[in-house]
Amino acid sequence: MTTRRLVLTRSAAVIGAASTGLLLPQIARAQSAKVRVGFMLPYTGTFAQLGVAIENGFMMALAEQGGKLGGREIEFFKVDDESSPPKAIENATRLVQRDKVDVLVGTVHSGVQMGIHKVARESGVLNLIPNAGVHIATRAQCAPNVYRTSFSNSQPTRALGKAMMDRGHKKAVWITWNYAAGEEAYEGFEEGYTAAGGTIIKKLGVPFPNVEFQALLTEIASLKPDAVACFFAGGGAAKFLRDYAAAGLNKNIQLYGSGFLTEGVLEAAGPAADGVLTTMHYSDSLDTPRNKQFRLEYAKTFKAQPDVYAVQGYDTGLLLIKGANGAKGDFSNKKALYAAMDGAVIDSPRGKWTMSPSHNPIQDMYLRKVENKENKVIGIAGKAVADPGTGCRMS
Ligand code: PHB
Repeated sequence: MTTRRLVLTRSAAVIGAASTGLLLPQIARAQSAKVRVGFMLPYTGTFAQLGVAIENGFMMALAEQGGKLGGREIEFFKVDDESSPPKAIENATRLVQRDKVDVLVGTVHSGVQMGIHKVARESGVLNLIPNAGVHIATRAQCAPNVYRTSFSNSQPTRALGKAMMDRGHKKAVWITWNYAAGEEAYEGFEEGYTAAGGTIIKKLGVPFPNVEFQALLTEIASLKPDAVACFFAGGGAAKFLRDYAAAGLNKNIQLYGSGFLTEGVLEAAGPAADGVLTTMHYSDSLDTPRNKQFRLEYAKTFKAQPDVYAVQGYDTGLLLIKGANGAKGDFSNKKALYAAMDGAVIDSPRGKWTMSPSHNPIQDMYLRKVENKENKVIGIAGKAVADPGTGCRMS
């Protein structure tokens, strides 16, 4: 496990606080100290590029505010969570107890999120989830100090079913990684597709983060469904797209997915991704001044094209800025901090979205098609889609 201090070393921060403390009263010292922001994200493994995009987007939002939060300078701490659930509690505890972060930004993987969630609930530290869609975090175990800026795992896939039936694809095979995100993405797919009249003929899976798809692709060929729907992301998604095409399945079995399948991987997948249909709360081609300005600025700053993860990271920054401004930089003023975030309207590159009572975005879902290495919008798959927040009682 590695923790890097990006701005100051810990000892320098302590020395700085001690020397100014001689002159300032206690409260002013707390206000003048830097806000401590901890990133717990994957920087290695199949989700490595997702972690980087989230961090980039977040930093971009803060840079637009002059690199401050509620008027205070920021100190960053960083942990590579490796998308490894067994290490999650220890990693999150380090950020909270040793680095004493005011806010923990993380993470991508739903299993790792559960470790962060335990630490966040027990410590009360502010946790902003920039990706992981695990249902329980904004349902039965929702918490006043936990906010998600991305999606819940069933939000994108619930919108798939109608799009598939509209195209006459009545019999489908589902395939995913066997872990919380795949299971919950299936839940949304099953609800939406069966409600629209579709039949799921088989549910297939591989352990996370395996990318040995060959045997299952052979099985799909023999099952002859009208369509395949799936959840994969990151490096594994690029491999799945290439293997699906290499097996020749892309010629006669339409591939669908939650939009993560084609996010950040279009260069790596090349023509193998052409024509794939997905549902997602963002699209590269959204023709709005907000999205265009975001894409231009991101590409200039990071010499890379932004994807949905970059947008989610950016929106996490926007949300935190609202909270910090509402609390005038005082993160101990939880009432003001939470009130500002609860009522936030986020002017995102994905379109404006609001926070649901259980702290998950209420947002539009787009139907997209991959064309020339771009996720092109071809329709709206759902307006103001909210997660039901089942069992959430904020205490
Ligand atoms: C998750 O584990 O919740 C997850 C990971 C990657 C994604 C989406 C969801 O792209």
